[in-house]
Amino acid sequence: MYPRREPLKPPQSIHITALGSYAPPRVVTNNDLSHMVDTSDAWIQSHTGIRERHIADDEELTSNLAYKAIEDLLASYNLEASHIDGIVCATATPDYPGFPSVACMIAEQFGITGPALDVSAGCTGFIYALEVARAMIATGSMKNALVVGAEKLSGVVDWNDRNTCVLFGDGAGCALLEFSDQEESGLIDTLLKAEAAGTKALTIHPEKHAIEMDGRAVYSFAVRTIGDTILALVERNNLNLESIDWIVPHQANRRIIQACSKRYGIPEEKFYMNIDRFANTSAASIPLALREMDRAGLLKKGQRILMVGFGAGLTYGGTLLTWTY
Ligand code: ACO
Repeated sequence: MYPRREPLKPPQSIHITALGSYAPPRVVTNNDLSHMVDTSDAWIQSHTGIRERHIADDEELTSNLAYKAIEDLLASYNLEASHIDGIVCATATPDYPGFPSVACMIAEQFGITGPALDVSAGCTGFIYALEVARAMIATGSMKNALVVGAEKLSGVVDWNDRNTCVLFGDGAGCALLEFSDQEESGLIDTLLKAEAAGTKALTIHPEKHAIEMDGRAVYSFAVRTIGDTILALVERNNLNLESIDWIVPHQANRRIIQACSKRYGIPEEKFYMNIDRFANTSAASIPLALREMDRAGLLKKGQRILMVGFGAGLTYGGTLLTWTY
């Protein structure tokens, strides 16, 4: 069993207090793709659960998607950017290779002067970024943080490769993470892992600048690690599956979730899925799903939520929390 970290001493806690998201307006359907590569709506739906994806225009970069998601958060929760202290942005598709980070571009756009950094952990990026922000808040490096997942995967897809181009989409989501000395709930526990072997299973090829993937290997890895992560977080916090209201998984393939549900005996209806409309948006998929649940009124104070991600690296991990608003 994985060891559990020491929680903050109650009543101190760290909470998600606001959410935002953005998906570019252009929708590309499976039928649209069937005119570009040898595929069909029936194959894509039956093998992945994807019906359509949002694709950014050429001039719309990852940072622009992130700005729009943050504008949604600020407007929807009636917040000023001056309230925000730090920024942790998970992305595999930064505007610039190396630097500046997308987080610093966000800082410039919104006039935020606290810590700003990007996290690279593939599709587990949002889970990793949440933990980086949680730890920095817990140690006092910042009082709150925007945790962002933003991706323009359409820019790193080979649109002639049917094995990969049907799987991905663009989008951004964000959560505001804040310290509180009032309540005893919020983020409960996090588990982060990387496989000791797996760097070659999922790569952005440096010369072709396109995603290459061993789909079968990633599939098996995903089924195993999603199940292991959920059960580890539940067990080491002395909970059971019935006490989890929602599992919000990284959205890569509906069949992965179905296989995991069957193998580990986790009811499929506990998993929130929106892959049919967004495809795989990597680090953006979990906050996009959370924001959609938020808008639909599915998130309620007191619920236990378990987010779980897996992806390039190969990395995986999960966060267990109580919803507090
Ligand atoms: N349309 C039609 N046929 C296709 C397509 C397509 N879009 N893509 C592949 N095929 C064909 C293959 O060529 C193959 O044909 P063959 O038998 O003649 O060789 C056949 O379909 C079966 O291919 P498989 O790879 O066995 O198909 P599978 O059922 O495994 O599904 C898939 C492939 C969807 C990629 C699956 O393996 C998967 O979801 N893997 C996980 C991928 C994933 O989650 N990646 C993202 C990770 S997160 C991150 O960090 C980015």
